Amino acid sequence: MEVVVFSSASLDGRIATREGDSKLSCEYDLALLHEWRCRSDAVLVGAGTAVVDDPGLFVKRVPCERQPLRGVVDGRLRVPHDLRLFREMPWLSLVITTHYGIRKEGWKAKYLSSRGVELIAAGDGPSVNWHKAIEELASRGIRRILVEGGGKTTWSLVKSNAVDRMEITYVGKVLGAGTPVVDGEGYATVREAPSFAPSEVRICPCGRCVHVTWLRIL
Ligand SMILES: NC(=O)c1ccc[n+]([C@@H]2O[C@H](COP(=O)([O-])OP(=O)(O)OC[C@H]3O[C@@H](n4cnc5c(N)ncnc54)[C@H](OP(=O)(O)O)[C@@H]3O)[C@@H](O)[C@H]2O)c1
Repeated sequence: MEVVVFSSASLDGRIATREGDSKLSCEYDLALLHEWRCRSDAVLVGAGTAVVDDPGLFVKRVPCERQPLRGVVDGRLRVPHDLRLFREMPWLSLVITTHYGIRKEGWKAKYLSSRGVELIAAGDGPSVNWHKAIEELASRGIRRILVEGGGKTTWSLVKSNAVDRMEITYVGKVLGAGTPVVDGEGYATVREAPSFAPSEVRICPCGRCVHVTWLRIL
């Protein structure tokens, strides 16, 4: 299983302003994102992004023979039942949650299942156990997942040592505050933080962003 994180960030590493405005991407960046969606078997966002942006997560900007599964990471199963993800092609949607979330929101779990949404319960408490979730996804034939953030979701993956590749577009804006690319308690020392090496750097044709591919060094 390959886990790819794709984020579009300001120069100071923010993916949204303090008011939650996340419209940072140029057309080239959006096309790259959609290429990555097309190359992936499942595309995921965290519950925070699902609530704020209500994305459809379809591949639209590039030709693609097969739409990937689209889903939300939501340990408490707190997202509304009428998100676009569940209204539009619900049979291609999934929720990565926990037994805790399913117990707590039993009616929602039943409703979503009845719409054809797949619920994967990985973990007993409110936190998704990524190792279990990845195992479950792999057992369904999923070989690559694309995680589009937000910051807390990316941190949960980083903390679980599960990120193989980061595709980050750095946009020539300085936001000063807002949601970081990776938002969590972090590490005490540089030594214990996971390492990545740049494998490709591209200047976007708009002349205002740089896209960098970072590969995990083991
Ligand atoms: N520029 C970009 O590329 C980009 C991309 C995506 C999003 N964004 C922006 O980022 C902001 C949202 O980011 P965010 O960091 O606040 O939220 P987020 O990462 O989208 O969602 C975080 C929430 O998802 C749930 N979650 C994530 N990982 C989990 C895990 N391992 N186990 C259990 N639950 C998990 C948790 O819900 P609970 O709180 O219920 O535990 C958590 O608080 C929005 O403003 C959005 O527009 C920007």
